[in-house]
Amino acid sequence: ARKRVILSGIQPTGTPHLGNYLGALSNWVQLQRDSSPNDTLLYTIVGWHALTLPQDPKKLSQSRREMLATLLAIGLDPNRSIIFHQDHNPHHTEFAWILSCLTPFGKLKRMTTWKSRLADSRNANNESEVNESLLNAGLFTYPVLQAADILVYRATHVPVGEDQTQHLELSRDIAQIFNQTYKRLFTLPKQLSTPSKRILSLKNPAAKMSKSAPDVQSRILLTDSHNQIKAKIRSAVTDSITGVTYDPETRPGTSNLLTILGACTNREGSDVAADYRSKGHGELKADVAEAIEGLLRGPRSEFERLREERGYLDDVAKDGAEKARALSEITMLDVRRRIGL
Ligand code: ADP
Ligand code: NA
Repeated sequence: ARKRVILSGIQPTGTPHLGNYLGALSNWVQLQRDSSPNDTLLYTIVGWHALTLPQDPKKLSQSRREMLATLLAIGLDPNRSIIFHQDHNPHHTEFAWILSCLTPFGKLKRMTTWKSRLADSRNANNESEVNESLLNAGLFTYPVLQAADILVYRATHVPVGEDQTQHLELSRDIAQIFNQTYKRLFTLPKQLSTPSKRILSLKNPAAKMSKSAPDVQSRILLTDSHNQIKAKIRSAVTDSITGVTYDPETRPGTSNLLTILGACTNREGSDVAADYRSKGHGELKADVAEAIEGLLRGPRSEFERLREERGYLDDVAKDGAEKARALSEITMLDVRRRIGL
């Protein structure tokens, strides 16, 4: 089999929740399990990306360490995967500058994430007025940094959700522009589709479960105790229809619970629904809480143990950064030679 280089990243912004775990992080562990010894796996905690939004320095520093502890706690193995802090490898930013000088301005203007930031910053009464204090240049250019994150390791496969498809396309476009401007260097990275489970807010099933929602009752944290899990699931918004059926359109709250239960037990939400045809929300909720507890118990206790092991975490981070830098240095030597620096 051809040698794959797989790269994915997560921002160190707050404690990860069940949506992050089922939608992204558990796939990373699965990839590690399914990979061949020829594959290179890189998992990075992207602190520079977090800076595109205001961050409290103390909290950022803590989140950054806790995210590393989380990645280890869920089963990523530093002897198998290269686990590192993006900001420990300056090649990312060096290369991002080079790539930003090759990236057409118009392409960045067409990124939907930028367009929605721009829309958010518009004056509600006067649409043509933009509140520029809500926008920084990093929000505009971070897709280029993302391209650098990927291309600096010559990643061949990038596991990301649907919401990141446009960003990965941009990475491919930029790689192609580099190849055409200089001598061909990059193969175009492919999106690695992993089973994507979109988990909804427990309080507002019209929205996804999110770190940034103000109500912490709307999400299950990877650090929640069994009692906290039970309380949050018990108070999850469902509906007043009798019985349990899977219908995401008309019964988003109930269906979300079925999706969660299915994800915890490797089944589809619609499949799980058959077991509850003659049961009520109470029984469903009790089972969902137990299934989540079963899924998170191991990682939670491992996280509690690891978060105190500062020396060990520092060693893992240092070792990961050295391995990452050794790989990206090979690319940067080629890049600098080609561009004449
Ligand atoms: P958040 O929106 O909570 O801040 P991020 O944007 O940091 O989460 O996303 C980190 C990863 O987790 C991404 O790969 C994203 O697709 C995934 N993810 C985030 N929220 C959910 C969710 N509710 N359901 C499934 N996957 C999610
Ligand atoms: Na987010």
